[in-house]
Amino acid sequence: MKKGLFVICVAALLATGCKSTGNTEEERFIEDLLGKMTLEEKIGQMNQLCFDQPLDSIKAKIRAGEIGSMLNIDPKLIDEIQKTAVEESRLGIPLIIGRDIIHGYKTVLPIPLGLAASFDPQVVEAGTHMAATEAREEGITWTFAPMLDISRDARWGRIAESLGEDPYLSGELGAAMVRGFQGEHLSDSDAIAACVKHFVGYGAAEGGRDYNSTYIPETLLRNVYLEPFQKAIEAGAATLMTSFNDNDGIPASGNDFLLRTVLRDEWKFDGFVVSDWCSMSEMMSHGFAADRKDVARISANAGVDMEMVSQTYIEHLPQLVAENKVPMEVIDNAVRNILRIKYRLGLFENPYAKPGKTSTIYCDEHLQTARRAAVESAILLKNDGVLPLKEGQTLAIVGPMADAPHDQLGTWSFDGDKNRTVTPLRALQTDEYNQVKYIYEPGLDYSRDTDTSDFERVKSAVRRADVAVVFVGEEAILSGEAHSLSNIYLIGAQSELLKAVKSTGKPVVMVVIAGRPLTIERDLPYADAVLYNFHPGTMGGLAIMDLLYGRENPSGKLPVTFVREVGQIPMYYNHNNTGRPAQNEITPLEDIPLEAPQTSLGNTSFYLDSGKDPLFVFGYGLSYSTFEYADLNLSSNEVSATDTLTVTATVKNTSVVDGTEVAQLYVRDLVGSIDRPVKELKGFQRLFIKAGDSQTVTFKLPVSALAFYGRDLKKKVESGQFDIWIGPNSAEGLKGSFTVK
Ligand code: NOJ
Repeated sequence: MKKGLFVICVAALLATGCKSTGNTEEERFIEDLLGKMTLEEKIGQMNQLCFDQPLDSIKAKIRAGEIGSMLNIDPKLIDEIQKTAVEESRLGIPLIIGRDIIHGYKTVLPIPLGLAASFDPQVVEAGTHMAATEAREEGITWTFAPMLDISRDARWGRIAESLGEDPYLSGELGAAMVRGFQGEHLSDSDAIAACVKHFVGYGAAEGGRDYNSTYIPETLLRNVYLEPFQKAIEAGAATLMTSFNDNDGIPASGNDFLLRTVLRDEWKFDGFVVSDWCSMSEMMSHGFAADRKDVARISANAGVDMEMVSQTYIEHLPQLVAENKVPMEVIDNAVRNILRIKYRLGLFENPYAKPGKTSTIYCDEHLQTARRAAVESAILLKNDGVLPLKEGQTLAIVGPMADAPHDQLGTWSFDGDKNRTVTPLRALQTDEYNQVKYIYEPGLDYSRDTDTSDFERVKSAVRRADVAVVFVGEEAILSGEAHSLSNIYLIGAQSELLKAVKSTGKPVVMVVIAGRPLTIERDLPYADAVLYNFHPGTMGGLAIMDLLYGRENPSGKLPVTFVREVGQIPMYYNHNNTGRPAQNEITPLEDIPLEAPQTSLGNTSFYLDSGKDPLFVFGYGLSYSTFEYADLNLSSNEVSATDTLTVTATVKNTSVVDGTEVAQLYVRDLVGSIDRPVKELKGFQRLFIKAGDSQTVTFKLPVSALAFYGRDLKKKVESGQFDIWIGPNSAEGLKGSFTVK
């Protein structure tokens, strides 16, 4: 390439905010290839198709250079299709093959909401790395994960795919997922490109109804919704997907402020942006684009590099460039971004599947990784002493989720084989648990089942047992994309089943296997213990048995608030205080006197029928151990913006069982230029503490971590008074305070 042209290209790159990596070999390769491409070939790179046409017609398009990527195709066809691109197209540019590997490829991990409950970046990184290894082996080079949508509404089915309601936790675990998927080098045989999604605000869908509009003001957008994306991009995420929703009237696939100003100029993202499935052409339904040509113009100029499925780029970009409505520079930069990731994946050198000598799929190591993740993802919500179960007890195994091999895998499990799923029932048939005596009487066939005709049989089985373990929850189809619910009680006749079991007088353990936090308050009186599992994946059954029998000690904590009633939504721990926060004493609805004077109840912010508090708070989770927090200490009570505060506390395991506690650090900025949340998570640590032992937990809190976007939309630490807590969840803990000068 001529020197002058090279300088112009790099200048153009910088002009749109693409970071020059300084890796001249990479950039030289890209510029050289770009220089050889026709406009049509460039636009072809920006086109992603699914497999909805005959193989021959797909191959013809690939040969003609009209396709840059395929998604969700039969893995068996990957190498054949790749060969067409590499050996039969003019420039031999390999395809990037994308697939929804959301929580495991064949070996399925707990759904992301479950992984989040582990509060364990290591387990999350190991799990996603396992998924990448299995996928790359089959030629998949790109996953559409992690999903980093802050989710504060359990009606929204995609809460299952999220890392919960908190930006700090989502950011830490999202970054761990990126590291896990992408390994050390994208070109390694155990690495695939990650895609952070959905950019942005998708989880704030009004009413929790999927695809609905959102209204997120810029301060909230920046202080909450963007934070996990920024962290994942800092961790090196190769790609990003736009979301379906419009925010404040602007659909995400047409939002140049987000895609150019924030993503490229501020964050220096140098990977590529893909639209979500037809989210570009859907801008016509939104009423934001007049026709398909308008769609292509808006999205290209906004900064969407690759179009998923809807094909307006291939149809209209040539004309739009000719008419000067989309500058050539926009096309060139989009193609640069795409080629850069293909280059980093090593596809130009090694485009094909990368099987090792022996397949890693379902290998022992991966099964153990999935089992550990499932163990750490379970949350013990209640225990009146019935758990752990004792050897020698006869169990009644009841409920539709005791043996639901498909449903236990959860949403987005295209590739997991249900015959490999170890359900709780199947776990009892393994060598590890086959000494347990049990009677299996499910009572209901599936979660929505309303046929109670087997309940007498269930009761008789329970009477013959020592303890009933009732597996309830949700089928996989009830959560995930487009699967929102307006009611989130236990569905079907599951609550009635629980009551029937309890009526026998036997101790009852309720094990929930579900895709979202359900409203289970009304079920709690009928359970002596509750173990909550977000769909736990391939090894879920064994993990649950390990926990029920105390071979493992529960350590999961809630990544989302559990509301008492659906009408409390949205309810999340890091809310603003309001001018009239509710008092601790609230008159129960039934105690309100007749004709009570209008203002006699206090005029504060609560529900007459469900109060101010949720059922279980963010960060909550029990253990078979008990822990006590003491001796909160701050390195200083007065700090400046450049300091780092050291905060310590002693955590004592006051029980006779070794256990792991997730110690959590929260702060509150008491006065700001805009209202600040009543608490914000700023750190967490998993502490393994032997029975009777104590440990000092130390958090290093850079004062810069207290910065936020205030009234002037500039990120900075505002001076003043702060409260700080170290504790076991978002509602309890030792409290201190400090001042930022
Ligand atoms: C639509 C979903 O919103 C997105 O998350 C997914 O990756 C794509 N479809 C591809 O299947």
